[in-house]
Amino acid sequence: MKKLKFKNGDTMDAIGLGTWKSEKGKVTEAVKIALNNGYKHIDCAATYGNEAEVGEAFSEVFKKGDVKREDIWVTSKLWNNAHKKEDVIPALKQTLKDLQLDYLDLYLMHWPVAFKPDVGFPEKAEDFLSLEEVPLIETWNEMVKAKEQGLVKHIGVSNFSIPTLESLMKDTDYIPEMNQVELHPYLQQNKLLEFCSKNGINVTAYSPLGSGDRPDEMKAADEKSLLENPVIVKIAKKHGASAGQILIKWSEQRGTAVIPKSTNEERIKQNLMSAGYQLDEDDMKEIADLDYHFRYVNGKFFELEGNSYENIYDD
Ligand code: A2P
Repeated sequence: MKKLKFKNGDTMDAIGLGTWKSEKGKVTEAVKIALNNGYKHIDCAATYGNEAEVGEAFSEVFKKGDVKREDIWVTSKLWNNAHKKEDVIPALKQTLKDLQLDYLDLYLMHWPVAFKPDVGFPEKAEDFLSLEEVPLIETWNEMVKAKEQGLVKHIGVSNFSIPTLESLMKDTDYIPEMNQVELHPYLQQNKLLEFCSKNGINVTAYSPLGSGDRPDEMKAADEKSLLENPVIVKIAKKHGASAGQILIKWSEQRGTAVIPKSTNEERIKQNLMSAGYQLDEDDMKEIADLDYHFRYVNGKFFELEGNSYENIYDD
């Protein structure tokens, strides 16, 4: 499997286990299965509401002794209601407590969007704080402090467009080390990948399988399935792989990290084995033609009438 390199020499396995939408009752077992079957990269976030259950898996697996803390890479994310400078490090410490860890390998600002501290998910314009009230640089500077304090080894962002990255980068010497974004054959993000590559920013692909298990209110009535796409299915047959494996391999082969979510033992194992396939030039060309800039996670839930957030992705 490919590894992503960081400037200090650290490396991260390209294929990780995603935990967004993993149910509390299933995620402990899923993470244990993953770690006991060769996964070395687990992607978490405070807002997934299951970090304590992920932490139980870490604790049990480390206690058994087959896998050590330093052998794995753990990412988590700062939720939008903790962007004010006094809230960043306490939110990180809560995540560390829930995950039962002393440090994270990577901490990401989940969105370039801020909510009031008591808001979990916004329902009205007043639930937000504007970027004038809490500039991204205020939040970022606290994340830099968290890194300096040794609470996290690397810091980065998620759901940042090129203009949003540029606006942050002009105010800081600490270039984000990662941008985690939605990325799959329907949303190939070529310009963003090029920008990130030029600036030494690694990229992680989320929703690589089309996140079919996300809430219905996030779904468009006419959205197309990635797993059932005829080109993907055809390439899968050609290689004797599953469609999911082709989608995961495609991201890995392009040099990004990729975090397929599964709580199913068989699929957790097969997803890691995607690395063993190799897509040829024809496959890559056919998949390149599938791009139509379609987002499964379109960010519209943060664009409420009367708040200051518009066109979060700068599309
Ligand atoms: P499950 O957890 O039951 O395996 P994404 O990573 O894009 O958010 O997609 C996650 C969805 O894809 C979940 O519904 C998950 O279900 C399903 N899934 C995970 N791995 C595979 C696979 N190899 N083939 C088909 N579906 C998969």
